[in-house]
Amino acid sequence: MSRLNTRTAIVTGASKGIGAAIARTLADAGAAVAVNYRSDAAGAERVVADIVAKGGRAVAIQADVAVPDDVTRLFEQTRAAFGPVDVLVNNAGVATFAPLTAITADEFQRQIGTNLYGPVLTTQALAAQDDIDGASIVNVSTAGTLQHPAYGSLYVATKSALEAFTIVAAKELGPRGIRVNGIAPGPSVTEGTHAMGWVGSELEAASVAGTPLGRSGEPGDYGPVVAFLVSDDARWITGDVVLVSGGQR
Ligand SMILES: NC(=O)c1ccc[n+]([C@@H]2O[C@H](COP(=O)([O-])OP(=O)(O)OC[C@H]3O[C@@H](n4cnc5c(N)ncnc54)[C@H](OP(=O)(O)O)[C@@H]3O)[C@@H](O)[C@H]2O)c1
Repeated sequence: MSRLNTRTAIVTGASKGIGAAIARTLADAGAAVAVNYRSDAAGAERVVADIVAKGGRAVAIQADVAVPDDVTRLFEQTRAAFGPVDVLVNNAGVATFAPLTAITADEFQRQIGTNLYGPVLTTQALAAQDDIDGASIVNVSTAGTLQHPAYGSLYVATKSALEAFTIVAAKELGPRGIRVNGIAPGPSVTEGTHAMGWVGSELEAASVAGTPLGRSGEPGDYGPVVAFLVSDDARWITGDVVLVSGGQR
């Protein structure tokens, strides 16, 4: 696979879970990586320390992706550390599973803010750079956009919107050589799904039973797919969302 030695990447929500694994994989492939986090500085610093210990380049940067000034600073600090940003992985995401009658205004703003407005802001910031020669963006969606699970109405709606944004952004940014794709992970064992009580539950067992490859996803399942999508090997792929779910759909 093509190396990413000349690339500077931002991975949002990379202090733990899928984002941390993606950051490690991109760094292993040679990219300089900004490990973004919102609150877990220790987690982000651990990811950075692991990358640096292997000879890679990484820096931890705090920013809430749903806050415009934070996103501006995230790009400024990344550019100051490593130069123009030409890889962006919009991984930061939040979810709750609850009856649609329980959705509050605050929860709506929280999920739409992180899951959709965040990627809009970061995509704008990437595109605002006039010193990049092409770039690649990967938006992390969910296989739930195919399955439409009950109690996931708000989360799935935000991720379906993110997939639509992916396709439209690919059309607008394609002429500048900026590719925009997505991945749709299946249910996976992460800090987030541990905190939700999903790991080890009957829901996880049912999910595994419905997965042709017979297990839950793991964070390390996703980095190689993202590394491929942002590499030159995927130069003819844009506006696509790749299902990465062990066959669950
Ligand atoms: N796990 C699954 O089963 C699964 C399945 C399909 C799709 N996904 C998607 O995959 C992505 C990662 O999921 P995960 O399970 O690995 O999540 P996780 O373990 O809960 O970690 C979430 C990460 O996102 C960061 N984050 C949350 N809100 C943020 C914000 N506003 N600004 C910046 N960073 C923010 C967190 O930062 P701090 O902790 O530092 O605050 C953390 O690093 C999400 O987009 C999720 O929707 C997950």
